[in-house]
Amino acid sequence: MVTRAHISVLAAPYIEALCTDKKGRYIDATFGRGGHTKLMLETLSEQAQVLGLDRDPQAIEAGEALAKADARFSIAYTDFAGIEDAVHHQGWGSVAGIGFDLGVSSPQLDQAERGFSFMQDGPLDMRMDCDSGQPLSAKLAKVSESELVSVIREYGGERFAGRIAKAILDKLNQGEMNTTKDLENACFHATPKKMRHQGAHPATRTFQALRIWVNDEMNQIDEAVKASMKLLQVGGRLAIISFHSGEDRRIRDLIEKQVHGCVCPREFPMCVCGFKPTMKWVQKKPIRASEEEIDANPRSRSAMLRVAEKLAELC
Ligand SMILES: C[S@@+](CC[C@H](N)C(=O)[O-])C[C@H]1O[C@@H](n2cnc3c(N)ncnc32)[C@H](O)[C@@H]1O
Repeated sequence: MVTRAHISVLAAPYIEALCTDKKGRYIDATFGRGGHTKLMLETLSEQAQVLGLDRDPQAIEAGEALAKADARFSIAYTDFAGIEDAVHHQGWGSVAGIGFDLGVSSPQLDQAERGFSFMQDGPLDMRMDCDSGQPLSAKLAKVSESELVSVIREYGGERFAGRIAKAILDKLNQGEMNTTKDLENACFHATPKKMRHQGAHPATRTFQALRIWVNDEMNQIDEAVKASMKLLQVGGRLAIISFHSGEDRRIRDLIEKQVHGCVCPREFPMCVCGFKPTMKWVQKKPIRASEEEIDANPRSRSAMLRVAEKLAELC
């Protein structure tokens, strides 16, 4: 099996936005194969420290190798719900910056046995943490048609969600839904003929949606943003790269609440809650990849980088 090296997206703006204190303590919460971490370590001084996190045991192995080579770096195996514990276990209080590069890495996509890709045949798995949780096959065995339609529509933005969900469950009931190629076929044949060869492959959006569902990625984002805003020191930065408009909206809304501060109803003539802003946007709009980056790495086309800075401790 050949796995591509992962090309880190939006690398320059991400590092520039995140690493403002050269001697600070940082978290790379989506270590992957360490592309962004290595750039952080290059930018930071000898006194800085970086903690990498990932829920994928294979990413942890890569992190352990880097930790042996650079004493400023350490790695911990956790999902976003465990960020605070991991930081406290490290003996740290607050940190100067926390970065996230959401989604899957190229090595995860390229390993057929992980079940993320419709380009190769593999089991219906899709777990980022292959040692825990339920693989896609187990979730499909229990899902109702209406829930599956919602997952594919909401997380994939798929207009033929109803037809695709029905096709998947029909094949499952016939014992013919066992591999990623079976899933790809179901998506392809459920898509109207004249739409099958327009734009992205008809399975693209459904695979994305099912991956988000299997890994509970939307709730993980809530955990990530809330924990990060607590852990940052005043003046510290939160930088998040996402690849899905639903994820970006969720990130924006969670941060925006703290940017806004006041929770009084709009119709109140003046603030009575007393909540002050605890975060500010470093840039109001998300940063997107340049045309050159998209040409060199098409995966960066949908990337959106949001950066916010902590102004005060959260109430
Ligand atoms: C896009 S890759 C990161 C690539 C990395 N920035 C690089 O340059 O090599 C995303 C990584 O984050 C991990 N990940 C995604 N969601 C996670 C979560 N909720 N908790 C922990 N790790 C997560 C994945 O396992 C994957 O290794």
